[in-house]
Amino acid sequence: MARFIDELQRTHRCGALRESDVGKEVVLFGWVDTYRDHGGCVFIDLRDREGITQLVFDPNHVPAAEGVRVDLKEVEAAHVLANQMRNEWVIGIRGIVRSRGKNVNAKIATGAIEIGVVEATVFNKAETPVFPIADETQTKEEVRLAYRYLDLRRPRMQKILRTRHEINQITRRYFSDHGFLELETPFMVKYTPGGARNFLVPSRLQPGAFYALAESPQLYKQLFMVSGFDRYFQIVKCFRDEDGRLDRHPEFTQIDVEMSFVSQDELFTQMEGLVFAIWKEVLGIDLKQQYPSGHFPHMKFDDSMRRFGNDKPDLRFSMEHTDLTEILIAQQGGGVPFFAEIAAKFEAGKLRRDLPGEIVKVLVAPAAAEISRAEADKLEGYVKSMGAKGLARAKVGEDGGWTQSPLAKTATKEFVAAVNAACGAKPGDTLLFQFGRASIVQTVMANLRVHLAKKMNLIPDSGHGGKFEFLWVVDPPLFEFDEDTGKWAAAHHAFTRPQDASVPFLESDPGKVLCHRYDLVLNGFEVGGGSIRLHDPEVQARVFAALGIDAAEAKAKFGFLLDALRAGAPPHGGIALGMDRLTMLLTGTESLRDVIPFPKSQKGTDLLTDAPTLVTDEQLADVHVRVAPKA
Ligand code: AMO
Repeated sequence: MARFIDELQRTHRCGALRESDVGKEVVLFGWVDTYRDHGGCVFIDLRDREGITQLVFDPNHVPAAEGVRVDLKEVEAAHVLANQMRNEWVIGIRGIVRSRGKNVNAKIATGAIEIGVVEATVFNKAETPVFPIADETQTKEEVRLAYRYLDLRRPRMQKILRTRHEINQITRRYFSDHGFLELETPFMVKYTPGGARNFLVPSRLQPGAFYALAESPQLYKQLFMVSGFDRYFQIVKCFRDEDGRLDRHPEFTQIDVEMSFVSQDELFTQMEGLVFAIWKEVLGIDLKQQYPSGHFPHMKFDDSMRRFGNDKPDLRFSMEHTDLTEILIAQQGGGVPFFAEIAAKFEAGKLRRDLPGEIVKVLVAPAAAEISRAEADKLEGYVKSMGAKGLARAKVGEDGGWTQSPLAKTATKEFVAAVNAACGAKPGDTLLFQFGRASIVQTVMANLRVHLAKKMNLIPDSGHGGKFEFLWVVDPPLFEFDEDTGKWAAAHHAFTRPQDASVPFLESDPGKVLCHRYDLVLNGFEVGGGSIRLHDPEVQARVFAALGIDAAEAKAKFGFLLDALRAGAPPHGGIALGMDRLTMLLTGTESLRDVIPFPKSQKGTDLLTDAPTLVTDEQLADVHVRVAPKA
């Protein structure tokens, strides 16, 4: 029987002891965080997930307390051991809590006390860690990921993962209390076209056939509604074979929800309740103070595109875009040749206001941004990296006229005045223009807005003490016009319910059809998305027709869902929150990889285990797969 663990069981965690515990006999286990030898007296900071406690090994001042067995030989042996202990060794001690008097360490919760050690053991030695276990680290991310078990010992990472735990617990409690059932769905599913790119899993039992790893539980949660479960939630892993980015990961976690007999507003209320609960319990922030109605504001998709260039605006700062298309049509280009060309296309009917085509937008960089010529050239390089042809600009002079710009040479006075008035430009400001294909203009301007705001330090932090701006983006179009094929495509998926007022336009003017899809946006990130589903087979058939999908194709692609929807499907709708993104914003980190315990690198490698790896020919033969030689 081992003396420590079996006989001497742990009495406290390393963050627990206070002044009121002085005189107690305690047993602590943990990792050596730091050690210092002060000539015959060894100090060790002992660390576990709850905190740090200072240990003192000093045979010249033997600790004593009433009723505590102290054996001088054990005290001396502990001191000898302490002399050998190094960072990250795993040890156990028995000792007596004593006050640190005036030498309180205000930086740690246990700073008022220390432990006079009377007995110690080493459970395990440790090799010198490849990087220090400290919050401040210069260590490269690749190294941190390769030794993730060490990285996760850092207090900051411990705190982040604890936050994940809290979000999980709050979510489960919240939904269970509100009548939702936590139900599981398969990960290995049928491949369905559209949506994200899937990871494929070969079947051993059925040669040549593949499962897809579920990109979300979407179809199954709808089937739960058809089965009558009414309210479902799941905290679930999803898999998408997309390139890693700071806010995207190939396997990520959703808080997935589906409800029957629900309106869009009722669904929002449920989700707002969850977010309020998470913010309250994790950060101690009462969102009611910011949103007294208990609801987040709504913004129409079109307004979001017009004002911010995308459907996930960061509302922590303004710097809105101004669309100049109408002004330049009214003024036939206002004397600027590029703009005149666009105006002429509208005039000739080659461009239409009701179809995505070409637009002109301006963004005002305030005088305070101090955009020098060199700076503007840098901005131009930045927008070119996103596919823009250039960045037209003009500085607003004292009299409101434009300077430092080729546009200034030809633009008419009326045009300059109309543009200045539309975007609220003041002397000293710099106007940044984009024109051309709407999709590029919007993306470039949306990114430019954030880029400039960062440069000007206009964006407050997320995380504790930071600013949180929530927003529901609503009423997007059901169909997207594919500029390449000239055809309409489902903007999200073909099972989103069109708004009743839009249904008559399904055949006559698909671009006008708005739908019950919504995104929850927080600080410029899409943290959730969902829709009210289309449960009416008749409207469904019309949507398919608008998409050019005939009955046979619909059956082949979505047969089982269509069958289920005809089997007595209640009206239903749902949403999924991106749990990793939420955690990232809650903890004020900048990468999803910081909030996922064992993440993949940008190239999809698990640097800890080296996955993915090659497998043997036998393994491949087993699953009936042959690897094509590298092209
Ligand atoms: P959607 O595809 O919008 O909806 O996903 C929901 C939310 O999941 C998060 N998310 C991601 N997070 C990290 N890495 C990724 N690769 C990634 N992809 C998405 C986002 C997003 O808002 N089945 C529907 C939901 C529904 O309609 O009910 C769905 O999956 O925060």
